[in-house]
Amino acid sequence: PELFLPERVNSKGFDLRHQPTLEAIEAARAPFATHKWEAAPRLAAKAAPEEKVDVTNPADPAGSPGTVAHASAADIETALSKAARWDAPAAERGKVLGRIADLYEENYGEIFAILAREAGKSQMDAVAELREAVDFLRYYGANAPDTGAVGTFTCISPWNFPLAIFTGQIAAALAAGNAVLSKPAEQTPIIAHFAVGLMHRAGVPEAALQLLPGGGDVGAALTSDPRVGGVAFTGSTATAMKIRKAMADNLAPGAPLIAETGGLNAMIVDSTALPEQAVQAIIESAFQSAGQRCSALRCLYVQEDIAEDFTKMLTGAMDAVVMGRPWDLSTDCGPVIDEAARAGIAEHIQTARAEGRLIHELKTPNAGTYIAPTLIRVDSIADLEREVFGPVLHMATFGATELDTVIDAINDTGYGLTFGLMTRIDDRVQYVTERVQAGNIYVNRNQIGAIVGSQPFGGEGLSGTGPKAGGPNYLARFTVHPAPVAGD
Ligand code: NAD
Ligand code: ALA
Repeated sequence: PELFLPERVNSKGFDLRHQPTLEAIEAARAPFATHKWEAAPRLAAKAAPEEKVDVTNPADPAGSPGTVAHASAADIETALSKAARWDAPAAERGKVLGRIADLYEENYGEIFAILAREAGKSQMDAVAELREAVDFLRYYGANAPDTGAVGTFTCISPWNFPLAIFTGQIAAALAAGNAVLSKPAEQTPIIAHFAVGLMHRAGVPEAALQLLPGGGDVGAALTSDPRVGGVAFTGSTATAMKIRKAMADNLAPGAPLIAETGGLNAMIVDSTALPEQAVQAIIESAFQSAGQRCSALRCLYVQEDIAEDFTKMLTGAMDAVVMGRPWDLSTDCGPVIDEAARAGIAEHIQTARAEGRLIHELKTPNAGTYIAPTLIRVDSIADLEREVFGPVLHMATFGATELDTVIDAINDTGYGLTFGLMTRIDDRVQYVTERVQAGNIYVNRNQIGAIVGSQPFGGEGLSGTGPKAGGPNYLARFTVHPAPVAGD
């Protein structure tokens, strides 16, 4: 219990209904509205000069937030050879992680500006992202273990939580005293470069934390070198499988891989559910963050007796979703991350349109890489061939006697990240939640936005190796002698 809720509090975040708070955010962000950042490797020795590449702004093709110089082969060698464990006592490491959290909170204006301009994060998402990053730092910092570090840990993160997940992996590895080689997603190097700058400023030694921006090739090099002792990865299931193979071929036997991957997440709405509550939860779960959350709802099952009326309510609520520029407060749904993502999702929608399965779609803004919230009819979750990572919801119906068939179909996907249930029958809550195989199960609420320390987050099956992030067992995987505790 002590480890589960340690002596720390979650970040208070920002109340976006409070006018003075909004004004303060606006004032803090304004100086960075057209700023150009320059991201580059941060190494324990001088980096080799590399060509600078423009970073894209998903909402505004003309508004690049700056440039990035990717890590070269020489930089990767420098990082591997200079990496040194952080041998400060656990309490000192914990204190430094706390200082980083404070620096993150102090620099919120610049962080919000980067998140909007580089990752297309709406203001609401940027607030949640900063809060989660700060929570990870304080939670792992408060639990920094005395047991031995693994050695050098490679941390590889995705673009969809370019601060929170990026920070969470690093904070855990550092809390346990490892040396970290960090490889951010190629789409979001600027926020990573800025964050590592704050980490060094707070007191993390340069040899204990090095940043290597770049693409999959940099990630591949950092997961296939025998000097690496373990890997923390968050991203797609396909990439996790490549990493597992590279580690098996090249790293010491038993080197830990913590992989948090994709999901085909479902929600069941039965005929007793409160429709207004269910619709609100569905809109948030499927379309907030433009559907670019691993936890996002992908396939909705509605009991057939209520399906017709419920669909009308749902499509009406979709019409109220405001698409817009990330930095406008009215925006509910911003752009998807880049043109490759947009084109792939648009093709999926086009196939559904051609097959007559489109139930509803909104109009897409002209500039930027936007996909409008879309509802597609399917017979079963089994029809989803892949995780469509955007604001696209699939919907199937089920009869009163078909609940077990639905549960089997959900489990048969092999994924198991989040699941939602909307019902007012207590026995059904127990029946369904005991049978659905998913890491995070939510009843009568949305299924996104797990809170560090209260709702450890992570999946099973194709969705991840565990242990859950922001939970009591996570740090043990970053040490030599894992000592799991109960409660995950
Ligand atoms: P991705 O797998 O394409 O990339 C993730 C990271 O892996 C990037 O930094 C990328 O450069 C790197 N990479 C690519 N190839 C590599 C290789 N061969 N070796 C090592 N590293 C390599 O994923 P993405 O598109 O950036 O992120 C979206 C995916 O992440 C979705 O599937 C989403 O569900 C998943 N995700 C999961 C969680 C979770 O907690 N379970 C959280 C966020 C995102
Ligand atoms: N932890 C994030 C969520 O719960 C992915 O939505």
